[in-house]
Amino acid sequence: MDTKEIKTLRSLMEFEAARTSPPQGFPHLPDIPAGRYTDPRYYELEQAHIWQKSWLFAAHIDELPEPGCFVQWQNTGDPVVIVHAENGDVNAFYNTCSHRGAPVVMEQSGRRPSLACKYHGWSYGLNGDLLSVRDLEDFTDLDFSCRGLKSIRCERFGNLIYINFDNAAQSLLEWLGAVADEWHEFQFENCRLVAKHSFELNCNWKIAMESNSEVYHVRNIHPTTVAPVLDDRRNVNSFYTNGHGRMIAPSRQNDAGGRTSVDRSSFPIIDTVSEIGQTCTQSYGIFPNWVSPLSPQTIPPLLFWPTSIRTCKFEVWTFGHGKGDRPLNDSLTNIWTSPDGSELSPVLLEDTQFGEAIQKSMESRGFEGVPLSYQEARIYHWNQWADRMIGIPKIPEELRVAQVLGDEWLMPNDPRVELLKDSEDQISAG
Ligand code: FES
Ligand SMILES: [Fe+2]
Repeated sequence: MDTKEIKTLRSLMEFEAARTSPPQGFPHLPDIPAGRYTDPRYYELEQAHIWQKSWLFAAHIDELPEPGCFVQWQNTGDPVVIVHAENGDVNAFYNTCSHRGAPVVMEQSGRRPSLACKYHGWSYGLNGDLLSVRDLEDFTDLDFSCRGLKSIRCERFGNLIYINFDNAAQSLLEWLGAVADEWHEFQFENCRLVAKHSFELNCNWKIAMESNSEVYHVRNIHPTTVAPVLDDRRNVNSFYTNGHGRMIAPSRQNDAGGRTSVDRSSFPIIDTVSEIGQTCTQSYGIFPNWVSPLSPQTIPPLLFWPTSIRTCKFEVWTFGHGKGDRPLNDSLTNIWTSPDGSELSPVLLEDTQFGEAIQKSMESRGFEGVPLSYQEARIYHWNQWADRMIGIPKIPEELRVAQVLGDEWLMPNDPRVELLKDSEDQISAG
């Protein structure tokens, strides 16, 4: 982040702390219909469009470090295998034999020179090509060139592996847009997997995710953990194309070790992180389901995957910084869990505590819609983009959100910067 951006952000923090209403020109946010969390019609639209067309963070290269290594992945229901090929590429395929659909790998992860189906023995290369068929003479006109494993788009951002089921999707870099540039200083190419754990939650996946998408809740549910170290009144939310969002809020103390509720002091430092990343909580929501604060020590994404309309899988990951093959210190553990990974951390227990009850409320006739404040506007922005991704006419009218937050609020546009200039002009004139 360059000096000019840092200066603007610091001014915006003071602007946010001083304002007595939402900024001039910020739209009124209509209620989010409760049916978006409870109505099977909306759930089906999410399944058909959001999960099938978005770039999804699926794996870290340390899970499949060598050619031949593979991992299975089923977080959206479809059976997927992600494979490290001989030429260094990482490929994703449906884990589905082209003969009669048996899986080509059965183990959760492993290493193989080729992928051979156990049912009748067809075998495939690590690039998905069909290599051999037993008793080939008994098939007529079997065209090997169109009987390979069916591939899925798979691209990397540094050491992170993303997949997309939509062959027509834009590239991962285009999808991330300006966020990709902002992420360079965090050296995703040198982030190493420390730990990954997952938990089941009894609520719609968006209810769980939204508790990590605003700071309005901080003083209430985190009075002794986050609130003492995060200056929520100076939080600056920003909105990006494709539904992504960012929050930047200064820490109340400036010592890197004590500035958050999570102990990151034993992690190696990423020395290219700017002053903002060093002294603030700089957190990104990447559409559809990634939320992560980035710090000079860790990149720790939280991922939310629906397992039904009223349950979800909550994946909590921690990446640390380490160049090349140098192993990370063994003593590092997941910052989001107890040291043995069996329980969520106190902060995440606070964040997830109301999910099940909120789901029940949303399913009752006692609750119709969610009125969001300016502080919670990233949630609204996410919902607008969800509808665009689905295709607005496909959504029953009572389940839509109105498209009120216009492109003039999408980065690099930010009408607040003009308001800042106006107030600076007034000060210098007066
Ligand atoms: S289903 Fe795979 S070889 Fe028959
Ligand atoms: Fe929280």
